[in-house]
Amino acid sequence: MRVVAVNSHPEVTFEYEDAALAPLGVRIERLRVADDGELVAAAADADVVIGRVSGAAIAGLTRCRHVPSGGIGVDHIDVAAATEHGILVTNMADTFVEEVANHAWMLILVVARRGLWLHEMATTGRWSDALDQLFPVLRLAMPRLTGQTLGLVSFGRIARAVARRGQAFGMDVIAHDPYVPDDVLRQQGVEPVDLDGLFQRADVVSCHLPWTAETLHLIGERHFAQMRPGAIFVNTGRGKVVDEAALIRALEAGRLAGAGLDVLEQEPPEPSNPLLRMANVTISPHMASVSDVSAIARRQLLGRQIAETLRGRVPPGVVNPAVLPRWRGQAGAAAST
Ligand SMILES: NC(=O)c1ccc[n+]([C@@H]2O[C@H](COP(=O)([O-])OP(=O)(O)OC[C@H]3O[C@@H](n4cnc5c(N)ncnc54)[C@H](O)[C@@H]3O)[C@@H](O)[C@H]2O)c1
Repeated sequence: MRVVAVNSHPEVTFEYEDAALAPLGVRIERLRVADDGELVAAAADADVVIGRVSGAAIAGLTRCRHVPSGGIGVDHIDVAAATEHGILVTNMADTFVEEVANHAWMLILVVARRGLWLHEMATTGRWSDALDQLFPVLRLAMPRLTGQTLGLVSFGRIARAVARRGQAFGMDVIAHDPYVPDDVLRQQGVEPVDLDGLFQRADVVSCHLPWTAETLHLIGERHFAQMRPGAIFVNTGRGKVVDEAALIRALEAGRLAGAGLDVLEQEPPEPSNPLLRMANVTISPHMASVSDVSAIARRQLLGRQIAETLRGRVPPGVVNPAVLPRWRGQAGAAAST
């Protein structure tokens, strides 16, 4: 049995994954490939392929039974092609929901409470000037949050965790998710709204959309144009769901008071990206899922998922259950016993 990790960072080690695979006598093997052709040539006999896998590569991975994602997003894997070829795709569904929700709130608070600007004033000899400069320098400078409205774009696991925190801050929470029944939102004290209504009413919009063909640039000019004066926009979902040029224009025009972004359309961004130089924008380098706990938990789960597949059992975290009736895993297990 063969498990390969494609183009993993040289600093990444697999000791937690290998510990789960040791009873099967398997260790993860690193592969460096330049393109799909090299991947197929080097991994055609692999049972599990970890990494970025295109539809073209999947068609050539004739023995592969499982392509796991080390994250929640699966946009680096062609899930439709995997399903067509009888290959399971898994993700880390529950492993770092709390981390991302905390990070979204870190961005909301830093942008709303002007954290970076206040720190600069306090640490550059301008302690006594901060209050005088706040309102003239930064228009609509400091929202209260408590009593205001938090709008969540999507109502999946992370958005729900963000909603709970918003309610603890005394915010009214509204959300838009066409795939979650309104009753589910209401049961959690959240008002269901359409996307336009959300942008019109929210003082803070927090985006938790996955990147799919449907969500690409789902948020654009029209939505930013509808936002309330002084509103802020936060994105910890995926950069490509936002028309970033429209976001930049809205910030430059003062339509938005600020933005907090863990994800960008292009990562890492070009140094010329105007977002990198805006005083009212706080950016983190796609780190929302990280904590001491999640860093280990995600790797232990990855090891368990792969071990289950190699034993011919359906692993936890399957994102394409439609594949199960023709999953190659059962056949692979039979062949290996
Ligand atoms: N910044 C990070 O480090 C980081 C970490 C984890 C996850 N993420 C991103 O966050 C996303 C959400 O994670 P999650 O755990 O909440 O996922 P989830 O699968 O629990 O929820 C996703 C939600 O999006 C909804 N959705 C899909 N299309 C929609 C649309 N057109 N309009 C509104 N809602 C729509 C779905 O119905 C679902 O409820 C992931 O897909 C991933 O891309 C980012």
